[in-house]
Amino acid sequence: MSDAHGPTIKCCTLQYWRKHWNDRKINFHEPIVNRTLEEQIPLVNAKHKIHKILVPLCGKSLDMLWMIDQGYHVVGVDGARQAVEEFFTDHGLEWTERDATSMGPGCRLLQTAPVYLQNMVNLYVPAENLDPVVKISSRFLAVDRLLNAERNIKLYYGGIDLFNRTVEGQFDFIWDRGGIVSLNREAVDGYVDTMKDLLCPGGSMLIESHDSVVFTEDGTDSPPPPYVMYENEFKSLFEPECTVYSIDRNLHPRAGRIFKNVYYLVTKMS
Ligand SMILES: C[S@@+](CC[C@H](N)C(=O)[O-])C[C@H]1O[C@@H](n2cnc3c(N)ncnc32)[C@H](O)[C@@H]1O
Repeated sequence: MSDAHGPTIKCCTLQYWRKHWNDRKINFHEPIVNRTLEEQIPLVNAKHKIHKILVPLCGKSLDMLWMIDQGYHVVGVDGARQAVEEFFTDHGLEWTERDATSMGPGCRLLQTAPVYLQNMVNLYVPAENLDPVVKISSRFLAVDRLLNAERNIKLYYGGIDLFNRTVEGQFDFIWDRGGIVSLNREAVDGYVDTMKDLLCPGGSMLIESHDSVVFTEDGTDSPPPPYVMYENEFKSLFEPECTVYSIDRNLHPRAGRIFKNVYYLVTKMS
């Protein structure tokens, strides 16, 4: 299908989101770490030890940087190449890349480079040829790279419908912000089935949703995405394999819109 402005892209398909990244329409990206995530992770960890965290539809979220700095093993998945690549470039992280054959054709795994690779970059700089200012800044760069080397993260580039437990096994915790509420509606059931399968018994998924319509600052309703999803919808999607509780809510202004955020903690039966 097409119109005078070119082909019409169906809302919230992967093609739609790739176009958003290409056009730099990424207002959903937050410049700070999510407060509810910061509060909930220690509480969840106290009940069920968290080792591995999945961030489906991850974008280039800063939350992932915070979680790896807390010592968690983080795996993200996004179908926009820019998203996964910019996560590394934004934070000055070196990465290696290979085909993610266990996920599917065309999928790629981008992963922080091991320490020795990052050090090699510095070894090959002939320090005696550098002027003193560059020499000092390259030392800082070396220290920075060494610190970053501890930041171990894997980001998969590919459609979330292709991600399954053969790729990275199961996860203790899943963080979904701007994920399920931003997916094409036809993809939601399959996405939820995948998430339920990817959660370890006793593991939890924290979801940011929106209660009632998202409205603009002048008071008018704003169309999706994100979609409004209520508690009863989450219950019918996740029960009986999981319990669903709403645990936090707040009003959040962003990019000319006000979001009525509601957070759900979904826990898989042990
Ligand atoms: C609203 S953004 C949220 C990003 C991120 N969670 C954050 O908090 O900034 C949705 C993301 O999901 C990705 N996405 C949408 N549909 C997808 C699909 N079917 N497979 C993989 N990624 C998808 C988009 O590229 C986009 O980065």
